[in-house]
Amino acid sequence: MHSTSYYQDIIASHFENLTIDKQPDNLYEPIRYILSLGGKRMRPVLTLMAAEVFNTDCQKALNAATAVEVFHNFSLIHDDIMDDAPLRRGNQTVHEKWNINTGILSGDAMLILAYQYFEAYEPKIFRELAKLFSKTALEVCEGQQYDVDFETRDNVSILEYLKMIEYKTAVLVGAAMKMGAIVAETSEENADLIYDFGLNLGIAFQIQDDYLDAFGDPKTFGKQVGGDIIENKKTFLYLKALEFATLEEREQLLHLYSIQPSDNTDKIETIKNIFNSSGASLATQEAIKDYTFEAFKTLGKMNIEEDKKTILKSFGENLMGRNV
Ligand code: IPE
Ligand code: IPE
Ligand code: MG
Ligand code: MG
Ligand code: MG
Repeated sequence: MHSTSYYQDIIASHFENLTIDKQPDNLYEPIRYILSLGGKRMRPVLTLMAAEVFNTDCQKALNAATAVEVFHNFSLIHDDIMDDAPLRRGNQTVHEKWNINTGILSGDAMLILAYQYFEAYEPKIFRELAKLFSKTALEVCEGQQYDVDFETRDNVSILEYLKMIEYKTAVLVGAAMKMGAIVAETSEENADLIYDFGLNLGIAFQIQDDYLDAFGDPKTFGKQVGGDIIENKKTFLYLKALEFATLEEREQLLHLYSIQPSDNTDKIETIKNIFNSSGASLATQEAIKDYTFEAFKTLGKMNIEEDKKTILKSFGENLMGRNV
């Protein structure tokens, strides 16, 4: 097994050479566009890494990795419509650059394209991959629906929030890794353990995504900073602020989260101040660490070489240090 950058290079050049040379352009151009914007591509990298953890050449996992990343990009196009987001990876979102109908249909096409990449596998592996993928994709939809439902609720609990982010984000990270394990034809026990590792990493990842949405640097973040606040998203920061804030801050927070002003500058500023003064920001940083360490605990249970654990661990540590 190699270090992470080896797999990142393989994925980068793979997507550079990936051609989706089909017509009509109005359907496929947005697909080429969103894929060309790149992103971190952490999920396909994890698929390749998981295959090699279980002693299989990562080339064999490349089609599964592609499926996961194409699915992820599909989910971003639809997510940006649902979140009314103007920016993605430092560029206009698909529905802003084209229109909502284009975002819907190009997204649908990407979901189908994602499945087609599994056709490269023999029936037994194909079946396992498709089964995991369908289960995961449905859970992502469920998580996304909870996320939207929570926008207009003011009594969301941390437990409900954790379920929501597990579904909308973490299951795909877990599945990305399990697909590497499936391609490697390792034991079910190994496949489930690597899924668990990915799942906890994914939970930490989404809590950090919440954090960066408020506190990321607008110059480098690539998304609209404060977007979650504008949309009244019940993020980890928000829920912890409600829990910790003074009575007065709490009232202010509840009020600000019930309005939709035309200019959000003050709303964002005030809420970020409450996130900091209440201790919610600190608690969020702690939670990111806790779930990352939870993932590392799963590694401890795995019967694989120590150097492989070290590589997976450093992947998790690097994720915690990200600012995008
Ligand atoms: C964004 O995912 C959506 C979430 C699940 C938080 P990423 O942060 O992995 O987005 P890209 O692919 O790197 O742009
Ligand atoms: C998105 O969560 C999860 C999915 C795309 C399924 P977010 O809405 O927080 O992702 P970003 O912040 O827009 O990337
Ligand atoms: Mg979003
Ligand atoms: Mg969203
Ligand atoms: Mg987000």
